[in-house]
Amino acid sequence: MIYVAVESLYSLHGDEAPLVSMLKLCEQYNAFIYVDEAHSFGVRGRNGCGLMYELNLQKHPNVCAIMVSYSKSLACTGGAILCNSDVVIEYLKQYALTSLYSNFMPLAMLLSIECGYNYLQSDVVERRRVYLKELIVYFKDVYATNSFSQIQPIIVGDARLTRLIHQKCNGLNILLIPAYYPFVPKGQSLLRVYLHSFNTKQQIDTVVKVLHKYKKQQSKL
Ligand SMILES: Cc1ncc(COP(=O)(O)O)c(C=O)c1O
Repeated sequence: MIYVAVESLYSLHGDEAPLVSMLKLCEQYNAFIYVDEAHSFGVRGRNGCGLMYELNLQKHPNVCAIMVSYSKSLACTGGAILCNSDVVIEYLKQYALTSLYSNFMPLAMLLSIECGYNYLQSDVVERRRVYLKELIVYFKDVYATNSFSQIQPIIVGDARLTRLIHQKCNGLNILLIPAYYPFVPKGQSLLRVYLHSFNTKQQIDTVVKVLHKYKKQQSKL
């Protein structure tokens, strides 16, 4: 039996897995796909259910399981494996070490997750998701990247320059998430702008101004 494990949305470059064509291949080879939706849950799809729901693939017969994490948009911990197969569910019950050897999560966390789910289904959050899409378009208009998601990668290359931009932005109360070697190959250091629905266009203008300033230095390296 072939199993394919994939992330729907990657946190390094903000790119999406080609889920539709991957599932076509799975059909062809009788393989099953496991999709990690850690970075799309809460943000993509109806009620923030994730990219698989957005693409209406959640019930595809070649889907083995979908994993959602509560540690990102819900700001909790833990996660869930969404799955139709009794075999997979039984396997996880018997072999998933984290569930076998850990206590169940505290009730407070469970309630927090429940509140999170209710919140994700509210009109307020739906409007926030729409606004986030607007911010992504705005960001891409002023700073071209290959990502269409809330994760916008700024490829700098030089580690020293990456650190400098990171520090400069920190000083302006803008948190960019850097990635250095060995997390990325040598000479491919990058910064990630994680857009969220409480950002303003003004904040984007500020960060892009810094990025453009350093881009000039980058071209001299
Ligand atoms: C793609 C992906 N999957 C799963 C996780 C696990 O998240 P956690 O263990 O915090 O629930 C992470 C965390 O960063 C992640 O990036």
